[in-house]
Amino acid sequence: MEFVRLLLVFLHLLGMGMLVAMFFVQKRAGADAPLNKGWLHGAALQLLTGVALVGLAPLTDKDYDHFKIGVKLLVLVVIAGLVATNLNKKPASWLTPALAGLVVVNVGVAVFWQ
Ligand code: HEM
Repeated sequence: MEFVRLLLVFLHLLGMGMLVAMFFVQKRAGADAPLNKGWLHGAALQLLTGVALVGLAPLTDKDYDHFKIGVKLLVLVVIAGLVATNLNKKPASWLTPALAGLVVVNVGVAVFWQ
């Protein structure tokens, strides 16, 4: 079971990397480019792997802080909501920095909230 947890953490970290990379992909595509679907895929990967990690906690002997998880989930819902409502549209100038900022907030919550 430990291997499954590590695999999920591995995918969770790749999902984080993907969301950070999307900021640069979007920037490189230019201000007129529509919002890239990669944002949605990265957010979905974070949701699936995060929920699976929490769901498997009794089997992996982990005791996650549910308040912390709730905050991470809320931040992710805001990310996913912003992405879903702006998909394939030309993003407002604040949208990509805001999405990247929210991703960084979740990394901070994950690392510093112990
Ligand atoms: C943008 C969204 C997210 C980002 C960037 C993110 C980032 C991270 C990072 C960097 C870690 C590793 C922390 C460490 O090992 O000290 C982590 C761990 C974790 N995350 Fe997330 N996360 C996100 C969303 C979520 C969501 C939505 C959930 C749950 C619903 C979640 C659940 C977890 C859990 C349970 C762990 C601990 C895994 C373990 O060490 O066993 N994450 N996250």
